[in-house]
Amino acid sequence: MKEMKKISMIEKYAIPSESNYFKLDANENLVLDKDFLTKISLESLKKIDLRKYPIDLYERLYKKLSHYLKISEKSLVLGSGSDQIIDLLLTLIGRGKRLTSIYPTFSYFKTRCQLHGVAFSEIMLSSIDNALDIEKFIIDAKKSHVIYLSSPNNPTGNQFEKSKIFDILSSLKNNLVIVDEAYVEFAKYSLIKYVKGYPNLVILRTFSKALGLAGARVGYMVANDELADLFRNRIQLPYAVNSLSLAIAISLISSPKKVEESISLIKRERERLYQSLSKIKNIDVYKSDANFLFIKCNTKYWRIVEALENSKIIVKSLGNINNYGNCIRMTVGTKKMNDKILSTIKDIQ
Ligand SMILES: Cc1ncc(COP(=O)(O)O)c(C=O)c1O
Repeated sequence: MKEMKKISMIEKYAIPSESNYFKLDANENLVLDKDFLTKISLESLKKIDLRKYPIDLYERLYKKLSHYLKISEKSLVLGSGSDQIIDLLLTLIGRGKRLTSIYPTFSYFKTRCQLHGVAFSEIMLSSIDNALDIEKFIIDAKKSHVIYLSSPNNPTGNQFEKSKIFDILSSLKNNLVIVDEAYVEFAKYSLIKYVKGYPNLVILRTFSKALGLAGARVGYMVANDELADLFRNRIQLPYAVNSLSLAIAISLISSPKKVEESISLIKRERERLYQSLSKIKNIDVYKSDANFLFIKCNTKYWRIVEALENSKIIVKSLGNINNYGNCIRMTVGTKKMNDKILSTIKDIQ
């Protein structure tokens, strides 16, 4: 009972609401054509046999994914979204352990640490340019068992210099370093090809963001072959992903042209949105390597939140973030959505 009371104190994970609003609060890929996804989903449904466990489908997705990512199939572990893999990792890490991360970062990860009894230590990013003081980080991380970095980071949108991540990996050889690459398709670099050389590196990836399948719940982990094998065959649920989601994911990455086109468009729109928002007085927009923008709203926060709400646009209102002040995070959507954001914010005095 005492345990339940403690759990009820953990911040609730706010599930974004669905409506006829422009939903720009969860960093989904809204540029990818919905009808295209419906089409491949229906075709996938026709191909699968729901009476059977998805043994073949697992094998096929592992093969396709290995080909798509150009990495060994043995280093992959599928999960029901990366959230589920995060939970499994935290179960393994176990109560009483200490983890070093950054602030601000992916809030779900922090609340899951609380649930699993893992102490969460956070190093503040610079509110000027979201930079990380790497020396300070490593000193703190030496007291920890595990490190968590979101790359690009949610909600700030930036990717840290690659050399800094290598400094972390080589200075903390005995710590598990979890790098969450949920938004990496929009970024400058991925670390997946380094899992062989760094046995302490675990990478999390997902089909929910750039690949447009948030509703299908498909995520995966990339790690050295030994750890991946242990995870796949001893730790992960045998069928964490259902047949339909597996079949849709296979179909999507078998011909990824539409996904790639949507990623290019989002990157172009991100730049356009960034340039236009940068010209607006009294707000600070940060450069982003992801499919969202992080904005410090200063004294305009409540007026911006209210105006977006009135324009039927949902963004992530982050409220007051230490050092930064009141901030919002908005997904880069279609041109039409982005135009509406711009016309709404431009008018605010
Ligand atoms: C950094 C980060 N990691 C993981 C996730 C969860 O992804 P999934 O849908 O694969 O569970 C999110 C979703 O918002 C995220 O922002």
